[in-house]
Amino acid sequence: MTTLGTPLSPSATRVMLLGSGELGKEVLIALQRLGVETIAVDRYENAPGQQVAHHARTLTMSDPVQLKALIEAERPLLVVPEIEAIATPVLQQLEDAGVVRVIPTARAARLTMDREGIRRLAAETLGVPTSPYKFCDSLAQLQAAIDEGIGYPCIVKPVMSSSGKGQSKIDGPADVQKAWDCAMAGGRVSHGRVIVEGFIDFDYEITLLTVRALDEAGAVQTRFCEPIGHLQVHGDYVESWQPHPMAPAALQKAQQIAQAVTADLGGQGLFGVELFVKCEQVWFSEVSPRPHDTGLVTLATQWQNEFELHARAILGLPVDTTLKSAGASAVVYGGVDAAGIVFDGVADALRVPGTDVRLFGKPESFVKRRMGVAVAHAADIDTARRNAKEAASRIRPRRA
Ligand SMILES: Nc1ncnc2c1ncn2[C@@H]1O[C@H](COP(=O)(O)OP(=O)(O)OP(=O)(O)O)[C@@H](O)[C@H]1O
Ligand SMILES: [Mg+2]
Repeated sequence: MTTLGTPLSPSATRVMLLGSGELGKEVLIALQRLGVETIAVDRYENAPGQQVAHHARTLTMSDPVQLKALIEAERPLLVVPEIEAIATPVLQQLEDAGVVRVIPTARAARLTMDREGIRRLAAETLGVPTSPYKFCDSLAQLQAAIDEGIGYPCIVKPVMSSSGKGQSKIDGPADVQKAWDCAMAGGRVSHGRVIVEGFIDFDYEITLLTVRALDEAGAVQTRFCEPIGHLQVHGDYVESWQPHPMAPAALQKAQQIAQAVTADLGGQGLFGVELFVKCEQVWFSEVSPRPHDTGLVTLATQWQNEFELHARAILGLPVDTTLKSAGASAVVYGGVDAAGIVFDGVADALRVPGTDVRLFGKPESFVKRRMGVAVAHAADIDTARRNAKEAASRIRPRRA
């Protein structure tokens, strides 16, 4: 049985978000609506989620000393990672000691922190189909991995990176050095380790939002949202839509893979399972044990969006993953490098039928930083995509 308290009182149900970007902000809003007392942590001040939480804390979450001190001082009921670059051994230690519950589990946070833990788990332990891959620590090892089996074309990614940073495609021997240099420059915590993956010539890729939530008897049940199709440019999501039509056999395989991976990671919460599909073949790519950027579309398409689903699932509340309408999302990039920017054209954007807009409130804009999103619902995904893109294009960020 879940009992919820009153925020800012001794009975409060306190939840800490580690990472407070645009996805964390929506989770925090969903928690606020249930009267949960929220603590938003990020590496910089006035991060989007910090603007809507009861408490804001700014620190380096990859620093074990700082992270441990914060959690021990705050003693939240739940610690909810929103980003990957966290000192996960500290989370494991505090979870083992019964100090906090980590969402979905400390082990899941650790395994998904870099590409190696989750890839080895999926491919080698669970036997789930993935692209062929190899981990390499030097240019020579990379060349050998390609020559000895991965072949061309292939993709190189730093083991620790997201949103396509440091990632590049190799079409032939002339690209290998460039790809290695690109990975070394783009890795988050520079370990100098990369994964090289055989290129999958997929028809389309999806995110399968998968929710592990408690049923009436208190047992974990797995539920799936309708598949989300998306378009990535240089490894970064620019557009998504839901439901993406799929052959029944492919959908069934996708759900089986998502079930197997999320069951192994365990705990309660929402997961974004990324899959490649070609006809009836399905490959696992990666998984976020938390809301997924392409799932922003659910703000327009589901009775309970992915953030509400996550909030409910982690609190032990029932969830409903049903679709309300077809819809789409389109990213609004900053377009300028500047702090405190302004957005023209928001009214024009909202005149596009069935649309809504989120501006994340990030203090600083970069040309390629995601500053907002337009979402649209419509009778079909083609119309929704057109309208979401139209609305996004009418928003014009500029220097103040
Ligand atoms: N082996 C592959 N074959 C073909 N395309 C791939 C492969 N790996 C990655 N991609 C393409 O690059 C995109 C980004 O890759 P991936 O999800 O691994 O990187 P990421 O940096 O974690 O991105 P994000 O954080 O946005 O999910 C994928 O969504 C897909 O479009
Ligand atoms: Mg990805």
